[in-house]
Amino acid sequence: MKIQNQQHWIERARKVLPAGGFGNFDPSIVISHGEGAHVWDEDGNEYIDYLIGSGPMLLGHGHPEVLEAVSDQIGRGMTFFANNASGIELAEVICEAVPCAEQLRYVSTGGEADMYAMRVARAFTGRDKIMKFEGGYHGMSAEAQMSLAPTVLIDFPRAVPDSAGIPKAVRDEMLIAPFNDAAYTQDLIAQHGDEIAAIIVEPLQRIIPPVPGFLEMLREQCDKRGIVLIFDEIVTGFRFSYGGAQEYFGVTPDICALGKVIGGGFPLAALAGRTDMMAHFDKDQVGAEGFLMQLGTLSGNPIASVAGLKTLEILRRPGTYEKLLATGTRLMETFSDHLSRNGHAHDIVGHPTLFEAVFIDKTVRNYRDVISADASKMASFNKALRKQGVFKSPGKVYPSLALTEEDLQRTSEAIAKAAAQI
Ligand SMILES: Cc1ncc(COP(=O)(O)O)c(C=O)c1O
Repeated sequence: MKIQNQQHWIERARKVLPAGGFGNFDPSIVISHGEGAHVWDEDGNEYIDYLIGSGPMLLGHGHPEVLEAVSDQIGRGMTFFANNASGIELAEVICEAVPCAEQLRYVSTGGEADMYAMRVARAFTGRDKIMKFEGGYHGMSAEAQMSLAPTVLIDFPRAVPDSAGIPKAVRDEMLIAPFNDAAYTQDLIAQHGDEIAAIIVEPLQRIIPPVPGFLEMLREQCDKRGIVLIFDEIVTGFRFSYGGAQEYFGVTPDICALGKVIGGGFPLAALAGRTDMMAHFDKDQVGAEGFLMQLGTLSGNPIASVAGLKTLEILRRPGTYEKLLATGTRLMETFSDHLSRNGHAHDIVGHPTLFEAVFIDKTVRNYRDVISADASKMASFNKALRKQGVFKSPGKVYPSLALTEEDLQRTSEAIAKAAAQI
């Protein structure tokens, strides 16, 4: 018998949480627990999970080996503030895996990693301007909130703040370019190159792949003009491949931001990069003037570190990424087949490890393409999928390594029904 108590939690949430939730996700669902590739809501409904905690649970929920590592650590202490061996070991493992990572600093969230990456670039170059791409997501800092999801489309390179409470001065230091527009981006760099501290980019912008040569062009321009190239690999790190999108695309940034997978489901993120840039965190190397203060109570937390270490160890096992790519490719094809059969114009945008079916009749190349798609059809499709037991974010499908053959078949049936209903 089902325990009918989801509504109860929704009502309690409304009283104590603004907008009735944590700000992240539709507050009309309250998750009770997760196991493998499945989650259950507080009414006992089961879903195949394609949200996977917005990315971290690449191995699925409650992987037994991660649980064992975490349980062992919990018994030995939850947080120390001081250095701990697991955090040091995890830093070594990340620096070995990620091409740009010579050294790293821990923080607790991806947004902080991005914020410090931009700050390091400013400290290193002595310049103030940051270039970002419209629709690019880099957390919640004032800079990152510029032209993240603008509803009013103004002329580039002016920024539109997506949040209240941001001083106008921040906007003046931002340059916004359309993702995948190499000609425009190059012109902007030609005009402002000597003022730009950093170009920050998601190598896969939300779900949109870079057109061939785009990342290479950014690398070349940054080298030419002394600009720091930051890859935001919060999502793509250890997902696109073990070395992330920089390894996958063969373009190495100066600094990258990592999060999600590296904490194995616990709050841990990092910025990693060139030693000469990371030196700004060391007063002995750069002096008081160049020093970048960075502290965080939970930075390098041992529980997150052991969860991350075990997660990365499992990801290194032979065949892991082949399996993830095969699963994702099959899912992309499944979405496309059912949508085509039901006559829905769409573009499957992304990479097998992270993608979305966008209702549009052209190839998506940038943010303006995404917002020109049929949003109400998308919402209906997501709703129908949820009813059929497929749990996903409104704009992404995250495959996990815990998905079984049965899950994939059930997903296909759910997609078929949802595609027929909308
Ligand atoms: C590309 C990217 N950057 C930064 C962030 C922010 O990470 P966090 O939510 O851990 O602050 C996210 C979160 O989804 C992200 O997808």
